[in-house]
Amino acid sequence: MQKRKTVAEIKAMKKTGDKITILTAYDAGMAAMLAEADIDVLLVGDSLGMVVLGYDSTVPVSMDEMIHHASAVRRGAPTAFVVGDMPFGSYQSGTRDAIINGTRFLKEAGCDAVKLEGGLEVCETVEALVKGGISVMAHIGLTPQTATQLGGYKVQGRDIDSARRMVEEARALEEAGAFAIVLECIPGVLGQILSEEITIPTIGIGAGVHCDGQVLVTHDLLGMYDKSIPSFVKSYCKLAPAIKDAVAEYREEVRSGKYPDKKHSFYGESNLRELMGLHTI
Ligand code: KIV
Repeated sequence: MQKRKTVAEIKAMKKTGDKITILTAYDAGMAAMLAEADIDVLLVGDSLGMVVLGYDSTVPVSMDEMIHHASAVRRGAPTAFVVGDMPFGSYQSGTRDAIINGTRFLKEAGCDAVKLEGGLEVCETVEALVKGGISVMAHIGLTPQTATQLGGYKVQGRDIDSARRMVEEARALEEAGAFAIVLECIPGVLGQILSEEITIPTIGIGAGVHCDGQVLVTHDLLGMYDKSIPSFVKSYCKLAPAIKDAVAEYREEVRSGKYPDKKHSFYGESNLRELMGLHTI
């Protein structure tokens, strides 16, 4: 059985060159499978909103929804290192709210750490959380909660000024006490520079091969959609068509009376009607 990693062990993986694997999980069943597959960290991402809850962005996701799903992930994977994603509005209003909500992730859902989006503007919050005993994974580059301010879901850090700013942000977040930083949707070369410039692990999602670890939305990796997915995502299988085919076969077998057959039914006394004293039809 997998042993639950510690923050120190995750940080040490950068030094040893062991790539950190992270995948999102939102329910107990999937969390159990990912833990059995020896994924290092399970992220209860606020992508929950789009992938599971049917919102069209991550913005509407509430703290209660995150806690509900993070608790399920913990129940499904008791030995996994679980990170709870702070939803929009749960930390922007100040360090006090951030600590209250971060604490909920640890106390109510059993998470090991939290993740939050932002650069220089969240450093004070990161520092307060860490001082309050809550380990923090940072997230810069394309930050979906504020995607509209960034001009939509597009590659960040393409020009020299924004690349420089990102290096400054990564250094400041490390200084503030973050134990790792997610880099989303940036050029691979910038992912490499950022990974070289800081001593804590970088976790890439669309940030090239030089990051210290990688994260993906599990539903994307499994091909759970046949809608378009970002170009940096590799779907390792195509579950959506397989699910639709299986469901269509079930529908046809139920309609035609082929299912349930003898093998999938419980049988009682063949003369039960008679034994019950009911008229024969
Ligand atoms: O919410 C999420 O799933 C994320 C990751 C994809 C990094 O933030």
